[in-house]
Amino acid sequence: MAVPTTAPVPAHGATTDGQADRDLLQHLVLDFRQMREFAETPWVFTRGEGVRIQDDTGKWYLDGLSGVFVNSLGYGNERVLAAAFNQLNELHFAPPLHGTTKPAIELAERLRRLAPAVMHGAHGIEQEGQGGGVAVKLLSGGSEATEAAMKLARQYHKNAGHPRKYKIIARYGGYHGGTLGALSATGSWERKSVFEPLVAGFLHHHPPRVLRELFGELGKTLSDAECGIVSARLVERTIEAEDPETVAAVIVEPISISSAGFTVPPPEYYQALRRICDQHDVLLIYDEIITGFGRLGEWFGADYFGVAPDLLCCGKGMGGGYAPLAAVLIADRVWQAFLANPEERKEFHHGHTFAGNPVACAVGAAAIDEIEARGLLANARRRGAYLRGRLESFRRRYPQMIADVRGAGLLQGFEYDPALYPKSSKPGKRFEALARERGLIARCGDEFVVFAPPLVVTRDELDEMLAIAAECLAHLPG
Ligand SMILES: Cc1ncc(COP(=O)(O)O)c(C=O)c1O
Repeated sequence: MAVPTTAPVPAHGATTDGQADRDLLQHLVLDFRQMREFAETPWVFTRGEGVRIQDDTGKWYLDGLSGVFVNSLGYGNERVLAAAFNQLNELHFAPPLHGTTKPAIELAERLRRLAPAVMHGAHGIEQEGQGGGVAVKLLSGGSEATEAAMKLARQYHKNAGHPRKYKIIARYGGYHGGTLGALSATGSWERKSVFEPLVAGFLHHHPPRVLRELFGELGKTLSDAECGIVSARLVERTIEAEDPETVAAVIVEPISISSAGFTVPPPEYYQALRRICDQHDVLLIYDEIITGFGRLGEWFGADYFGVAPDLLCCGKGMGGGYAPLAAVLIADRVWQAFLANPEERKEFHHGHTFAGNPVACAVGAAAIDEIEARGLLANARRRGAYLRGRLESFRRRYPQMIADVRGAGLLQGFEYDPALYPKSSKPGKRFEALARERGLIARCGDEFVVFAPPLVVTRDELDEMLAIAAECLAHLPG
């Protein structure tokens, strides 16, 4: 696609000059951002086309981050826009305490079909088509999904006759959302310490890569699988030390990207976690808010790693950014504990006004259809392999600068060498500023840079992004 040439239209009240505008921007509360600083160098987006987004100065940027792991179908997808528009005309909202809608049923049907095969089969659950398969709780955002999954886990054990099982074990470095429960599961102080004390009953374990770091030279001789298995065994020790009869669930992101780092565990870690959870009647929850819906070149991280969760949270790319949409997929053996006579009060005691909104559901169904019709999972694998290869070549060019390249599918990134760039020197943030100047958006942490372009990205578009990334790297030292 040629770069659009439409004349820039400054967003009302948000131009960069003038005290009034700065004052207004200081009173708009953006996520995780010092608004005084933002008001000095504001960034106001006005429109998008394909994999590009424009700001109110008229400058176009390549979106190497899909917004924030959301815009998988790019900007201006006609199928999804039409579905949203038609549904808005037909029925934009329906009484959620009284019933559901056709788009919600149609989306749930698609999700049941796409749910990782391992979720249907791994625990003696009936195969789909024979009355089994997952249940679907529709929601509007990632934090709603992780909160709901953790509440489902706690209520499941109560319904199943184990009322003392309530503790949740999460991972240091993980991010599960901004609400109090999701934040309690989150494993980095940067996001949560100002809100403490948080919800009781949350514990954390270290990801496999921390073991390697702690073992120093010896760590270099350990395989990924060994680090993964030991990390999972530490979860087992934690469950045993806490009393298994008090532990409800383990929650992890298959691959995590947060202010605390970029973690890609080996499959052996998930295999070990699955076995340990089964042994202790602990539910395994995957937070697939980032990794779901094709990001890894499979529908879900569970497919990528080949290991089943009991509860799977998805959001972000699920609606392609055209509507707030999320869900929890619930393995049938878990869901069966919620089906009973109303007097038993076993129904899930949880709800949100906009959960299952018909417009959002129509968007979600159209997004799935688009991914299938255009073979976007295969595109994610193909383009992801190309992106990975190019990042590896950066590493060969700058061996003293880049310590590691890792990722899966169209979620790939690199980590700076901490010997050259200690965390405090924030090379990622410097890269972000260089990229912004040159027209590229990526996810830049203190010590890493991650690319997650829309699943529709072409090779030429990737080449454009990588040419800018190469320039940024060349300008970074010093
Ligand atoms: C892995 C993960 N889980 C949960 C969330 C929370 O999702 P939301 O911001 O939609 O509430 C996020 C958001 O970035 C996330 O990355």
